[in-house]
Amino acid sequence: ARAYDFHGEHQQGVTTLSPDALVLASLDMVDGATVDDLRELLADWTYAASRLAQGLEVAEDGAIGASPEAPPPDSGEALGLDAAGLTLTFGVGPTLFDDRFDLAERRPAALVDLPLFAGDLLEPARCGGDLVIQACAADSQVALHAVRNLLRIGFGRAQVRWLQTGFTHAEGSAERTMTPRNLLGFKDGSANLRVDDAAHLGEFVWVGDDADQPWMAGGTYLVARRIRMTVESWDRTRLREQERVIGRTKVEGAPLSGGEERDDVDLDATDDTGQPAMDADAHVRLAHPSVTGTRILRRPFNYVDGVTSVGQLDAGLVFLSFQRDPEQFVTIQRSLRTDLLNEYIRHVGSAVFAILPGVAEGESLGDRLLG
Ligand code: HEM
Repeated sequence: ARAYDFHGEHQQGVTTLSPDALVLASLDMVDGATVDDLRELLADWTYAASRLAQGLEVAEDGAIGASPEAPPPDSGEALGLDAAGLTLTFGVGPTLFDDRFDLAERRPAALVDLPLFAGDLLEPARCGGDLVIQACAADSQVALHAVRNLLRIGFGRAQVRWLQTGFTHAEGSAERTMTPRNLLGFKDGSANLRVDDAAHLGEFVWVGDDADQPWMAGGTYLVARRIRMTVESWDRTRLREQERVIGRTKVEGAPLSGGEERDDVDLDATDDTGQPAMDADAHVRLAHPSVTGTRILRRPFNYVDGVTSVGQLDAGLVFLSFQRDPEQFVTIQRSLRTDLLNEYIRHVGSAVFAILPGVAEGESLGDRLLG
């Protein structure tokens, strides 16, 4: 199976194609931790990640350990499994720049908490964090093994604040390359930025050399939102209404304004009777670049975490987007204020992180930030 080199200009896991499984963990530095602890933690993670990405155990002595009298350094559940296309992506949250580590002057102006949007129902235990690890793979056991062992390395320095898993269809179960579907049953990603479109990625995703904080050049920003869907009410909604809400057809994912899945949405199109082909508050209309003036790279996963206290599925979208400034997300989310979709969704978790630039061989993730 595929293995991606951990080193490079940018970190993995942003433009890497179609992973099936996500494990996203947010951590806080523990009380009393110092900037040296942070530096060493990022160095330890760099070493471990470069091994894990090759399908190796987290440390050389691995699951056997140096001595049978000591706990082995690797937890062992990925023994016999290959890299499975594992990507590991690390970032830092706004709170890391408060007064604990004397890093205030290194904070990029763009790295601030998101505003409270209309309709937000955020649960504090699913929000924020000093650090983030995103693991994606074609195998959920491989992704979880990586995060579990990275958390273990952090023990005593950083502890997990929240952890969210997610999934999309497995590559092997689709007959051909297909846009993944979300739990509303609609294709999600049809009009997304293409990961091989270097010009647009440079314009909308990667932070350039002109950044206010030079350490961020080659990085990006991650916005993570846990968006619950009330799938029970959606499933009682007529097909025509579902399509009106999204602004696309369900099976093909074609815009209601006509054409095929990959054709751009035509905001001015009319139907046979001269009426607008698309509702003024359809999701893809309000999110369209000609309305918002901006774009983002979306990398969404589905989640289901059991049932709620009122017997509904706790299911929805782990909405992940990458952009060179979180303000791009803010602009689109503000435009979605009157989105027809809002009747069926609730944003319950939220976080923003600066994704560090990629590292060269011999370099550590924290080098440019901590200098
Ligand atoms: C498009 C679903 C939340 C931004 C779409 C499409 C679907 C969809 C089915 C059409 C296919 C595609 O182009 O990918 C959902 C669901 C959401 C959600 C189910 C919540 C549970 C969001 C949020 C944002 C967003 C929070 C950003 C703030 C976009 C954008 C497009 C899009 C930019 C492409 C519009 C275009 O260029 O035509 N979404 N979405 N979506 N969505 Fe969402």
